[in-house]
Amino acid sequence: MDKKSYIEIRAQIEQKALSTLSQIGTLDELESWRIDTLGRNGTVTGLLRGISDLPVDGRKEAGSQANSLKDVLTKKYEAYKADIGSSASIRTRNGPSFLDVTLPGRNIALGSLHPTTAAVREICRVFESMGFQTIEGPEVELDTYNFQKLNIPKEHPARDMWNSLWIDRELADGSRPLLLRTHTSPMQIRTMESQPPPVRVVVPGKTYRYEATDATHEWQFCQIEGLAVDKDITFANLKATLEEFAKRIFGDKRKARFRCDFFPFVEPGAEVSIDCFKCEGNGCPVCGNTGWIEIMGAGMVHPKVLAGVGYDPEIYSGFAWGMGAERIAMLKHGIDDIRHFYSNDMKFLKQFS
Ligand code: DAH
Repeated sequence: MDKKSYIEIRAQIEQKALSTLSQIGTLDELESWRIDTLGRNGTVTGLLRGISDLPVDGRKEAGSQANSLKDVLTKKYEAYKADIGSSASIRTRNGPSFLDVTLPGRNIALGSLHPTTAAVREICRVFESMGFQTIEGPEVELDTYNFQKLNIPKEHPARDMWNSLWIDRELADGSRPLLLRTHTSPMQIRTMESQPPPVRVVVPGKTYRYEATDATHEWQFCQIEGLAVDKDITFANLKATLEEFAKRIFGDKRKARFRCDFFPFVEPGAEVSIDCFKCEGNGCPVCGNTGWIEIMGAGMVHPKVLAGVGYDPEIYSGFAWGMGAERIAMLKHGIDDIRHFYSNDMKFLKQFS
């Protein structure tokens, strides 16, 4: 054999060994590869033996080439052995002899909606079907929108209705007007400022109060605001819309009751209740023995609020409402403590999946 054909043979051995190795999926296959390649009668061993057939001046270089091939293939062999031996190896798992088609499949765990999210979606869908558009707004709000433009001036005692979480960030003029919105009502203003009438929107979103928590209070909860402004809107429209909502959520038989209440941004203002779905109005623990359950605040948009956003109160009128999403979910599902919603207790949450 001459030097040239020796180099060719070496190259062929290398190519074949590497391509067979890349097909290997099991330890058994790897072992036969080792015997065929590096074993006593293997191709590489044969190559080393063939050195003695070469002319003397070419032996040294051929020897070092054959030895380097042996080293390379030995290292590859060891790496494959470690790889196939570890259960993490993709090749091992995909190797034909490791596929057990009789194993049961793995379940994909499906999540489910949080009960607040489910309530928000259900409520918004009811209003969407009546022509309201669902929109969202900022949770960090300006004093102007959260209070002033809603007819709640600075230092006015009406502010006591909303214990606020103020954000300690000074603006250029030295004022600190930022807070976490205490209700979704500021979106009434933002909506009216951004478009001419008519308006029909429903606004779900997170709200925040500086308050101690108990069974009916959370410092963070979710409200759903609604606003309709147009020509000729009257209190009868408010009543019809909210009564229809109550029936769709709590059942066809529900009656709605509207009593006077005070909110600075509406006039007249109302507290909306439904007759108790549990006792049909006879009195039970769910309705605190009154036969009625309060579900939201509402009213006719105050003329000052309309004028403040540039709507002419002589031409336009409207109604608005605000309700707590958790409260509606609590009533629907018989949940007795609002704190369950945000304590991350899977036993509680899984009941609504
Ligand atoms: N924003 C009020 C609150 O958080 C609820 C409310 C009352 C909203 C009357 C309204 C309304 O839009 O008309 O207590």
